[in-house]
Amino acid sequence: MPFDPQSSAFLATCRREPTERVPVWFMRQAGRSLPEYRAVRGDGSINTAIANPDLATEITLQPVRRYGVDAAILFSDIVTPVHAIGFGIDIKPGVGPVAEKPITSADDLRRLRPLDPEADTPYVLETIRNLVAEHDIPLIGFAGAPFTVASYLIEGGPSKNKARTKSMMLDAPELFTSILDRLADMAIVSLTSQVANGASAVQVFDSWAGCLSPDMYERYVLPASQKIFEAVAPLGVPRIHFGINTGELLALMRAAGADVVGVDWLVPLDVARQRLGPDSIIQGNLDPVLCLAQWPAVADAVRRVIAQNAGEPGWIFNLGHGVLPETDPAILERVVELVHAEAHLGGQ
Ligand code: CP3
Repeated sequence: MPFDPQSSAFLATCRREPTERVPVWFMRQAGRSLPEYRAVRGDGSINTAIANPDLATEITLQPVRRYGVDAAILFSDIVTPVHAIGFGIDIKPGVGPVAEKPITSADDLRRLRPLDPEADTPYVLETIRNLVAEHDIPLIGFAGAPFTVASYLIEGGPSKNKARTKSMMLDAPELFTSILDRLADMAIVSLTSQVANGASAVQVFDSWAGCLSPDMYERYVLPASQKIFEAVAPLGVPRIHFGINTGELLALMRAAGADVVGVDWLVPLDVARQRLGPDSIIQGNLDPVLCLAQWPAVADAVRRVIAQNAGEPGWIFNLGHGVLPETDPAILERVVELVHAEAHLGGQ
């Protein structure tokens, strides 16, 4: 049955409309915590799996079947577009994205040519069309935010303190801004093509923005993210903005133009609402590490998160970051059941 947007608690919540239940989905809900994922994924590069629409469709749907979540998120990666234009980036298992030749000078900008989604990532669009044609669930499309993607391209891989990225910001601000601007344009065309092919919401992952002070974020990063949210506004789908360690950046992240702001577990939901303003729409924020505990402790943690939302509309339950590979899927199944059963709007 094709998807009917009117019936979606997830989409209604993204507009702050009251719903019968609080919608739930999990970042990284598809992935190594699921035995059915490990069974179909094989040993090759994740890029090979992403480039196979039948496989990517199946992997996207696995958590929907198992957990009964209220939204699917496309199986792809934030570095898929840069990989597709031949920048030279791979995703190493257990490590993350690794660039063969990190960006060091303005010469490297040539390697960041514009993305043509139909020609460069046709498999992503085919996966989306497969998903929306046959399944009655909203599909979240996504892109990496310019800063977070740039950090991989400049550092060459995951990095604790983002030293090269911050040095480039200060010592070569024009180059840094050009990189972010090109990555913003790639995100815009990618998100636009995802929505054109049927995605019904988009999330921009700025996972590592929290390493920046509000001042640095505002000066060097906000303009590129703002450009994305403005450009995709006319598409008319909800726009979610996510990062971790972003307690001090929440208001700026909302100012970037998102409809929904992700909140990590360090900021209680009621505090996040104070920082974001009275009509805010938020997504979060159970600590994914707590999901490794025994069920009674997890249930208690979920109930505390529910209590912190205090019955406000405009809340999507999620983790504060992605599902850890060692998570027992049975726990997440019970989390979904518990939120659906016990989280209600209009006071606890
Ligand atoms: O279920 C989903 O959320 C959808 C698919 C998705 C993946 N990556 C698949 C994936 C999404 C939305 C992402 C986004 C992503 N990728 C982010 C932003 C979200 C976040 O977690 O902060 C980031 C920073 C990346 C970069 C990346 N890709 C990392 C750090 C890793 C982990 C490396 C590892 O093996 O530990 C990946 C690989 C990756 N992307 C996996 C999955 C399911 C796991 C590995 C695999 O099967 O090979």
